Amino acid sequence: MNWWKSLKGKVRLNEPLKKHATLKIGGPAKFFIEPQDIADLQLCLRLAKRNKVPTLIIGSGSNLLVSDRGISSAVLSLSASFFKQVSFSSGYCQVGSGVSLSRVLDFSLRQGLSGAEFLAGIPGTIGGALAMNAGIPGRCIADIVKKVEVMDYHGKISLLQKEDIRFGYRYSSLAKYIILRAYLRLKKKSPLEIRCGINQYKAYRRDNQDNSLPNAGCIFKNPGGESAGRLIDLCGLKGQEEGGASVSLRHANFILNSGRASSNDVLRLMALIKRRVRERFHLVLEPEIKIWR
Ligand code: EPU
Repeated sequence: MNWWKSLKGKVRLNEPLKKHATLKIGGPAKFFIEPQDIADLQLCLRLAKRNKVPTLIIGSGSNLLVSDRGISSAVLSLSASFFKQVSFSSGYCQVGSGVSLSRVLDFSLRQGLSGAEFLAGIPGTIGGALAMNAGIPGRCIADIVKKVEVMDYHGKISLLQKEDIRFGYRYSSLAKYIILRAYLRLKKKSPLEIRCGINQYKAYRRDNQDNSLPNAGCIFKNPGGESAGRLIDLCGLKGQEEGGASVSLRHANFILNSGRASSNDVLRLMALIKRRVRERFHLVLEPEIKIWR
């Protein structure tokens, strides 16, 4: 039965997820759906549930490894224009879940709003960044959040104040919801100063990260304040390969896809890295990326 037929948004069948993941790896999603607005999203959740189809949310796929076999879930992407609105009123920047972090920064620069500069150069959408509390050492998106509008998987909408949300290192209790919109606390500042801040963060990332080939940013979380990249480097694993996947020569917490890496290549390389770091430093690395298999 074509349970998705009454949806207003775009529905694609057997959509290759490699097109939607920055690692450029991943088999097809049985359903790839872009709900048009809130009501369409609620309808989609209802219909999927009635037809026993699990649902998953995808942001910009910048922190994601998808199995080559693909997945039988409905992957929902909040990329319709309704979910991509940005505005500023009553002292808060209101940002739709599907807005990229770079667009938030463009907006804040134009409006002379400061506070989000440290997010410069981090790929991803506001929804994805909030779900994992993205950031850099010492700063995270939670620092600038005032409140977040969310939907649960039954379609119920709530407005959560920051105090109602648990945030930790690359963790947020928001991950159990569908994030709809964030209210960010930004302060007026001169655009010149804001641009200067953005450029500094961007330059640091450019000089220390490796975007020469498709990747998903840092693969592992930093254990106990240590840099996972430094530990992997000390294990002598830079350049280590499994099939088409290799550890970056520039930042050892990056795994690069030469263009022919399979999801299993990446998983094997991750297992090897974990084993070596555990043997040498007695530390257990946890993935920062989400793995769909
Ligand atoms: N280092 C090495 N070898 C490496 C990588 C790093 O010796 O291969 C050393 C560096 O020289 C530096 C220290 O380790 O002395 C820390 O390195 P870096 O500044 O790159 O920070 P990190 O802790 O490794 C974190 C984030 C990165 C973010 C950088 C800079 C995590 C897991 N990683 O890395 O974020 O770009 O800080 O802000 O929190 C990401 O989230 O996808 C990501 C890459």
